[in-house]
Amino acid sequence: MKKLGYAILGLGIGMAHAEAAAASENADLIAACDIDNTRLEKFGKIYPEARLYTDFEELIADRDIDIISICLPSYMHADFAVRAMEAGKHVLIEKPLDITPQRAALIEEARLRTGMKAGVVHQNRFNLNMYPIKKAVDDGRLGRINLGTFAVKWFREQSYYDRGGWRGTWEYDGGGSLMNQAVHTVDLMHWLMGDVESVTSTMAIYNHNIKTEDMTASLIKFKSGATATFVSTTCAYPGISTEIMLYGTGGSIEADADMIKTWKLRDSDDEDEEEELMIERYGRGNLKASSYEEGTLYGHRHVVEDMICAVRDDRDPQILPSDAIKSVEIVNAIYESAKTGKTVYLK
Ligand SMILES: NC(=O)c1ccc[n+]([C@@H]2O[C@H](COP(=O)([O-])OP(=O)(O)OC[C@H]3O[C@@H](n4cnc5c(N)ncnc54)[C@H](O)[C@@H]3O)[C@@H](O)[C@H]2O)c1
Repeated sequence: MKKLGYAILGLGIGMAHAEAAAASENADLIAACDIDNTRLEKFGKIYPEARLYTDFEELIADRDIDIISICLPSYMHADFAVRAMEAGKHVLIEKPLDITPQRAALIEEARLRTGMKAGVVHQNRFNLNMYPIKKAVDDGRLGRINLGTFAVKWFREQSYYDRGGWRGTWEYDGGGSLMNQAVHTVDLMHWLMGDVESVTSTMAIYNHNIKTEDMTASLIKFKSGATATFVSTTCAYPGISTEIMLYGTGGSIEADADMIKTWKLRDSDDEDEEEELMIERYGRGNLKASSYEEGTLYGHRHVVEDMICAVRDDRDPQILPSDAIKSVEIVNAIYESAKTGKTVYLK
């Protein structure tokens, strides 16, 4: 079977997409596009066979390209993803889908209109511990989940925000610690606990010269009747943890990023033995809790391969824009609540 032609648009995190596509048995990494020549040259040295573009219109005119990873600053995702789908390319879009629900909706609308495939990078769903946690939730082993606590306690230096000029801005990043870093955990929260009904939030800028926030704290109410707290920050030196904690009538599960810390389920034949097994198997994790650098490749390999196989097998990618838009809605509702001091209800 002919291998699919893969291209990367934007060569920051796009380099992780490139490595994943190059490692795939089902695709050839054939091109990259960036307006930054230094980055393009660096890419060209690693992948000498690949075609290099500085013009997006030329990239989408390349007939050998089937799939494009959209790895541009967040506010550019909708414009470029829609244009690529209209040109007959499948797209894999970095998180967040875009920075407002309205812009994110354009991507889903274009996917349905063009019939092209669109997937979204929320790679934490592929963390090793997430499969058993999601399965325990879906199998009802936690009973009725009443409470969740989620906390993204990460750290970023000021130099991180100074790079590229778009991070930590409302116009281009759509926010700060919540929209950029914690959106991964927002994704896990609604994936595990269901649709959000309302949010009541506060936010602050504590430790960076930015215009948005480096700390948010929210009380989340779900349509199911459950409640959660959600905290995000990039001020927790040196990057402490990503807590994902679920408490139900049937038991409790606590995770830190990709590690399982607590596994207590009432329906277990032997609670302690099962917990011991789960901690032995998933207690060490596959990546660092507070930084994407080491963990990125693990998750990105899965997401990129899923996208390639979706096109090859003519099925949907596992994470669709219609699902990823929920995270953008929740994040924007949290910001609105923090700005107005009012509880914000989601549709
Ligand atoms: N999934 C993850 O863990 C993860 C990690 C990091 C970043 N991201 C997301 O990926 C996206 C990119 O982040 P980044 O850190 O790589 O940013 P970055 O600023 O390092 O890279 C973006 C690249 O896009 C290029 N670019 C800008 N406009 C362009 C244009 N018109 N045509 C071609 N290239 C253009 C820039 O020159 C730059 O090289 C963001 O949405 C971010 O939220 C996701």
